[in-house]
Amino acid sequence: MADTVLGVRNLKVAFPCPGGVIRAVEGIDLDIHRGECAALVGESGCGKSVSAQAIMKLLNTPPAVCRVDKLWLDDLDLTHLPDRQMERIRGKHMAMIFQDAMTALNPVLTVGKQIDEIYLRHSRLSRREARQRTIEALELVEVPEARSRANSYPHQLSGGMRQRVLIALAFACVPKLIIADEPTTALDVTIQAQVLDVLKNMQLVHRVSALLITHDLSVVANMADTVYVMYAGKIVERAAMQELFLEPLHPYTHGLLASVPRISDERQPFVQIPDAVPHPMRKPAGCYFHPRCPRSNDPCRQRMPRLEGPDDGRAVRCWHPLRQPHEVRS
Ligand SMILES: Nc1ncnc2c1ncn2[C@@H]1O[C@H](COP(=O)(O)OP(=O)(O)OP(=O)(O)O)[C@@H](O)[C@H]1O
Ligand SMILES: [Mg+2]
Repeated sequence: MADTVLGVRNLKVAFPCPGGVIRAVEGIDLDIHRGECAALVGESGCGKSVSAQAIMKLLNTPPAVCRVDKLWLDDLDLTHLPDRQMERIRGKHMAMIFQDAMTALNPVLTVGKQIDEIYLRHSRLSRREARQRTIEALELVEVPEARSRANSYPHQLSGGMRQRVLIALAFACVPKLIIADEPTTALDVTIQAQVLDVLKNMQLVHRVSALLITHDLSVVANMADTVYVMYAGKIVERAAMQELFLEPLHPYTHGLLASVPRISDERQPFVQIPDAVPHPMRKPAGCYFHPRCPRSNDPCRQRMPRLEGPDDGRAVRCWHPLRQPHEVRS
């Protein structure tokens, strides 16, 4: 599709292990449009990070085995792109923000120097001009006293400040796509909200497409336009963010939403989804969610449902969704 900045078709990632094969990602499709923020949401171990690393081609192969029918970034076909060329694409067109800024930043260089390097690599600026751009970038992510903070080493900054530096780094070369994997999970709740605001603001200012990865639906509420819900390696629901919150179709999404505590919740008391995500080497037959699902019956135990719905609209992978996608107003 013309407006698709990131397109992924049938991405699969497996890890052969001594006792069998871990099928971490089982054929996911994504379409992220220009300026759109899509979220990939699901419980721990469902394959979110592995999907992101496979898209960036950051997985070591072996041990990982990756397959994708089609992978493209704007007008660049990345499906069969060799690693060397992929390195250039990663530096210039795709950037990643990780959960742990301390490991993502170089501990022996000042944060200013690390951002300068990006400007120097991607444009013909002098050192002085690059530093000026760095200071402006730090101001944009609301680092106070940016000029002097640029001379700090990562360990001299708080966790929230380091995460802002990572955001500044990621946006420095104005990439086409930002992938943020649990960008605020390691932070206090109040700092989390501030950093998310900064991230959203940067995404809007630069009109960069983003893939936000989180297990926390409350993070998605203020950030994402579209939500992909993932379970045990498969996308089980896709919806515009507001639609998902108003009317989840998959019982798993319904369970995830019910387990987000809210102050003014007239609908449901706080509920937990029973049991846990299946062990990756022992996924059940049929729909992977059926052992935990209140709506499951025989077909659910026997056959995996397809992701049903229009190509670019609401979709759900369930034999007994709360409603069919075509019945839902959009
Ligand atoms: N190098 C590896 N070798 C074997 N299995 C792996 C490897 N990396 C990931 N996995 C497995 O792949 C599955 C998906 O892992 P992934 O890290 O993508 O989960 P996640 O959804 O990001 O979870 P979390 O919310 O905890 O970050 C898990 O079962 C994990 O154990
Ligand atoms: Mg992860």
